[in-house]
Order: sequence, then structure tokens, then C-alpha cells
Amino acid sequence: MAKRSVLTLVSEDASQDAERGDYDDLATGENNDSEEFDLERKSRRAETVKKDLQMQKTEGGVFSRETLENVAKLGVGGYIDRIMGPISTGKEADVFLGELKGKKIAIKIFRLASASYFRNPTVLQYIIGDERFKKIKQTPHDLIKSWALKEFRNLKKAEEGHVRVPKPIAIEKNVLVMECIGQDKPALQLLKARVDDYGKVFTDIVSQMARMYQADMVHADLSEYNILMLEEKPYIIDYAQGVLLSHPKAEEFLERDVRNICTFFRKKGVDCEPDDVLKKVKEKKVKGRVKRVN
Ligand SMILES: Nc1ncnc2c1ncn2[C@@H]1O[C@H](COP(=O)(O)OP(=O)(O)OP(=O)(O)O)[C@@H](O)[C@H]1O
Ligand SMILES: [Mg+2]
Repeated sequence: MAKRSVLTLVSEDASQDAERGDYDDLATGENNDSEEFDLERKSRRAETVKKDLQMQKTEGGVFSRETLENVAKLGVGGYIDRIMGPISTGKEADVFLGELKGKKIAIKIFRLASASYFRNPTVLQYIIGDERFKKIKQTPHDLIKSWALKEFRNLKKAEEGHVRVPKPIAIEKNVLVMECIGQDKPALQLLKARVDDYGKVFTDIVSQMARMYQADMVHADLSEYNILMLEEKPYIIDYAQGVLLSHPKAEEFLERDVRNICTFFRKKGVDCEPDDVLKKVKEKKVKGRVKRVN
């Protein structure tokens, strides 16, 4: 049952994350388990992850039955073994640290209760203008699930375009499972991280933006909050707002992303001009496919 509803897409290019270990194995879920993987084990794991989640506190109070069921399905499917504790509790989503086959994962749970946020016209524009989500129902629950699915698909798209992102593992309605950036402890946001060479990180981020643009996508919420730093390398996260270039406001969003990045790096003493950055981000698309660097 869970197998059908859990939408997991396994990367076709395993080589790009060689440095970060075999996350592709994790994205295969139960198919990768031994033959002893029986019903009893599945249901035990579902109970474990459900209980784990029930123990967590969230700003919105307890988790709904639906969210607990979605997490349980991911447990049955072999996409979550344990949920350990919160990494971040926000207004629209909570992110938890979890474990899967001995590796740390991040589990982002979109609040089903935050319907009013998702119905706000400013927020709606990111999904309604996206050709992939033209036909979605605009009921609060469907909007939230589409928002989560959009983040998952954008992560896949970015990953396929060789952007440095957490590897998406699985999605079940409002619950998204991905690689945890930072296996010893979750990586810090660019805003809070210790950075030795801001110039180098800035150049790297511009290159990541170019890759995204070449993959036909704009992040649309890029800032020092949505970039995690691990070993001086930036990982771009929080892709739910990301839109395709065919979105009527894609260029406007890109310009805003560029301005946000320039504002932050200027404060850190990096000499950057938004117009030049914009040109750099776009020029690679004109020149052809960018090569993989990680
Ligand atoms: N894959 C990941 N690995 C490690 N930490 C993560 C990962 N994804 C998210 N986080 C942590 O969780 C925080 C919130 O994640 P994210 O930015 O995706 O959610 P959000 O949409 O901003 O949530 P809200 O706006 O409700 O606070 C991040 O700033 C980061 O600290
Ligand atoms: Mg964020």
C-alpha cells in the first residue's frame, strides 16, 4: 500500500554525490532490504517512527493523525528508521533529524494546520504560476501537499542539474525525507556558520545559481537562511518556492535572489554587483551544459 503512495525518485546520476556516500541506496526504500523484510518488521518500524514523532513537540501542538499515518507509511516503505529530534521548528514546517540505514536524514513536515499561509495570494503565486501544478485543487490540504511535492520535485530537478542540494529520498503527502547535510550534527545556515573565505563561497553560490538556471529553475527564496554550510561548501535548501523559468515571474524572482545574495556578501566585504551576477547566472545557460563539480 505504502509502496504505491510513496513517490520516491532515485537519481539517475549516482556519480555526482560520490563524496557524500551512497545516498542512492537509501532512496530505494524497501526494495533494497533483505528478503527477511516481512510484514512484522514493517509494522514494527511504522509503530516506531509514529511513536518517535508523537514524542516530539511542535509549535502547532500535537501532530495530526494524518501526519502520523504519512510518517508511518514512510517507515513501512523503508524510508525512515527513526526520528530523533527537531532540527528546526518553523511556522509552516518542522524539520526533524532522523536515521535511515545508519545515515542521518532530515524529515521536513509541512504543517497541515497552516492552511491560511498557503492560501495567501503572495504564497499562492509560486504554485499557481507553475505549469507543473496548474490543475491542483485549491483546498487547504491539497495546497500543502502540492507545496511539499513541489519542494521534492524541485530538489530532484536541482540535483539532476548538479546543484549541490540535500539528496531527496522520498515524499508522502506533507512529509518529505532527504539527506541531512552534516552527518555529525546538522550543518549551520550561512548566516550563522563560520566562514573563512566569503569570496570563495560567493563564487560557489553564483555557480550553483547558474546550474539551477540551466536546469530551468529559479529558487525564488534564496538568502543566507536557506544555504547550509558544510566544510566551507554551500548547500542550497528550502526549494518549495522554486519555479520553472516558464513562470511569469521567474525573472523577477531571480533578480530578487541575486539582490539578497549580493546584500549579504557585500556586508561580508565581497565586492559584488547584482547586474554582473545576473549576467553570470544566465550566461552558462547560453553556453551549454555546465560540468559537474562537488
Ligand atoms: N537537509 C537538511 N539537512 C540539515 N538541516 C536541514 C535540512 N533541511 C532543513 N534543515 C534545517 O531546517 C531549517 C528549516 O528548513 P527549511 O528552510 O527547509 O524550512 P522553512 O520552510 O524555512 O521552514 P519555516 O519557514 O517554517 O521555518 C533550515 O534552516 C536548517 O537549519
Ligand atoms: Mg527556510
